[in-house]
Amino acid sequence: MDKLTIEGNIPLQGEVVISGAKNAVLPILASSILLDAPLILSNVPELRDVSTMIDVLRHMGAAVAKVNDAEFLIDPRRLNCFEAPYDLVKTMRASIVVLGPLLARYGQARVSLPGGCAIGSRPVDIHLKGLEAMGANIEVNEGYIHANAPKGLRGTHFVCDTVTVTGTANIMMAATLAMGETVIQHAACEPEIVDLAECLNRMGAKIVGAGTPTIIINGVTALSGGKHTVIADRIEAGTFLVAAAITRGKLTLNRVDAKALEAVIAKIQETGVTIESVNDMLIIDATERKTKAVDIKTSPHPGFPTDMQAQFMALNSVSSGVGTIIETIFENRFMHVPELHRMGADIRIDGHTAVCHGVDHLVGAPVMATDLRASASLVLAGLAARGKTMIDRIYHLDRGYEHIEKKLMQVGARIQRHH
Ligand code: UD1
Repeated sequence: MDKLTIEGNIPLQGEVVISGAKNAVLPILASSILLDAPLILSNVPELRDVSTMIDVLRHMGAAVAKVNDAEFLIDPRRLNCFEAPYDLVKTMRASIVVLGPLLARYGQARVSLPGGCAIGSRPVDIHLKGLEAMGANIEVNEGYIHANAPKGLRGTHFVCDTVTVTGTANIMMAATLAMGETVIQHAACEPEIVDLAECLNRMGAKIVGAGTPTIIINGVTALSGGKHTVIADRIEAGTFLVAAAITRGKLTLNRVDAKALEAVIAKIQETGVTIESVNDMLIIDATERKTKAVDIKTSPHPGFPTDMQAQFMALNSVSSGVGTIIETIFENRFMHVPELHRMGADIRIDGHTAVCHGVDHLVGAPVMATDLRASASLVLAGLAARGKTMIDRIYHLDRGYEHIEKKLMQVGARIQRHH
């Protein structure tokens, strides 16, 4: 199993290019199932989750080819198997987003129920309720979701009980080929939903309101192919902002959408660092003073993203003062905390709240990555710590950060992968 070692306490300096967004590219790849012609997708990051989604599409009979650097052609015309098997879904919960497209385009789907997940139970009941409201028959047995809609799906008015990102994506994709109008209320407003809607509209879909809590989709009879470029990964960008802050360095991030990062930028500024936004660049300077700990409450977009919580926990650990972090989205997302303790952090957890008293410095230690963003938090802690940190189980990191150690090395980090 791959491991990372980091020699910490070095201020990062230089430029980083931000990759395409994992959470945008996954549903967009799945949306190719809806199309009658190939999709050419650019700015596709090289991630394990992306290869898993490509494996899922290939398993169904789609042809997927890399045509250029970060550019793929997905041809769905020979799709003939309507199944996402357990072996693939168990490694990536987001594979559930093939359900809506399969049902809408082929009237049937068999998708493995995503299993438990380290950060909480993560049910898919809202995905299923939404598709049922559009006329699908759904049964769950032997660990699989069996869905069919022999007469096609019909438009509906659906209110999501909870804001769900992949649930919104699934229902929105299904609605593009349903008969009549679908209104999704209490929809997720994440920038990745907007990117998916823009891609689908380019292929002939009629979606309005993506990025707001009410999305209206008018079904069409067929979608064509075309080209699309995936948006920048705001969580990767946010992670590099914290990397600069935690090492008291200075970084320029290229190809960033600052608008998608407003809540994160505001919090980083509250820690006392300076951020300047110029076109698609963010320049962060944390060389002046020690950061201050900040209070955070995670919430759906445009609130503070749960996917940045663990990284700010690492930053609070070495900032001055006390910072309280409240996690409202997932029930068990503090697994990085015991690992940060091993490095000398002073954090107390009470239910969904973590209170962190900043310490003077962290000390490198052997630690274990437990999920994607927890891994990022440990890398950040390792970059700031005195001495050597060894992070085990970094396959989590490879699911969502493109060439992370290469990018960090380019800006001065002493980081090494061991196979
Ligand atoms: C997506 C992101 C993930 C991010 C999360 C929250 C992708 C591929 N992943 O995950 O990185 O951390 O949004 O921003 O985009 N819920 C239900 N029933 C459902 C669906 C969700 O109760 O049917 C609950 C979940 O348990 C959770 C909350 O809703 O408490 C939000 O989850 P959701 O937005 O669905 O997360 P994902 O889409 O899986």
